[in-house]
Amino acid sequence: MKCEYCEKEAVENIYGRYYCENHFVKYFLGKVRSIIDKFGINGRIAVALSGGKDSSACFHSLHKLKLDLLPFYINLGIESYSEICQKKAEELCNSLGYRLHIIDINEYGINLADEKKPCSVCGTAKRYLMNKFAYENNCKYVATGHNLSDVVTFALNNFMNANLMNFRGNRPYLEGKEEYKMVAKIKPLYWLKDKECMLYVYINRLRYAEEECPHAISAPTIQIKEWIHEMEGKKPGIMLNMAKSFWRLEEMIGSKAKLNICRKCGYASYSKICKFCKIRKR
Ligand code: AMP
Ligand code: FES
Ligand code: ZN
Ligand code: ZN
Repeated sequence: MKCEYCEKEAVENIYGRYYCENHFVKYFLGKVRSIIDKFGINGRIAVALSGGKDSSACFHSLHKLKLDLLPFYINLGIESYSEICQKKAEELCNSLGYRLHIIDINEYGINLADEKKPCSVCGTAKRYLMNKFAYENNCKYVATGHNLSDVVTFALNNFMNANLMNFRGNRPYLEGKEEYKMVAKIKPLYWLKDKECMLYVYINRLRYAEEECPHAISAPTIQIKEWIHEMEGKKPGIMLNMAKSFWRLEEMIGSKAKLNICRKCGYASYSKICKFCKIRKR
């Protein structure tokens, strides 16, 4: 099949249109650009690199769009997995001319190997440390590599568990709150599927870790994601529609939880002491 926009061989079919490598990259960057423009993103962005394909694609695309970036990696101390991921993130940063900032979770007295629910502790620690890093380094935004497949999976998982209180993070932009030391969050890959992020990384020959976190291998969300992709294969476009619906729903639900300032660390919290400080105390 030929590309719709030139004479070259097509490498991907997106919603019925065929794209060659060059035009696919243009399409990809256009989707990232649409988020940047829609929300008027302008200022320094702390980019959360996990070493995986999505955050690598996110970082590379923001770099191509010439935004002001500060990449960082949180070393979670998970056996060899964390070391491999750090190395890949470092290689990517070096190849693009950046210095990678490293945050070590052990310095906060947290050891995931001692935790009964490592994924939950890890999630809290990552969210907290991402915001803290961005805030302390005068960044206006934190960018993560969450893509369309992640957003839809996360929202459906909350639906399946009747967990509407947790129904947040379904939007590409979450504004910051200076008084709570909360930096704005952006998801530049919001309109792009897993498969498209993989193709972007492949075409640009980006360094990334293929390893999965040993704690996440049996996560129920893996099956939900497979199921969504199967449905998308039968009816292209449903993921996009689901994301739009979840985005709208989140706006309608709003957040009823009252925000406080953590008495220990001074960052935002839904109770007197934030979840991160509670974990550290334990
Ligand atoms: P996950 O929570 O593993 O699904 O990752 C979602 C996004 O969070 C990634 O695309 C990264 O942007 C960010 N992230 C995950 N793990 C790390 C890490 N160890 N250090 C920095 N950012 C991370
Ligand atoms: Fe957090 Fe696996 S990456 S527990
Ligand atoms: Zn083309
Ligand atoms: Zn705290």
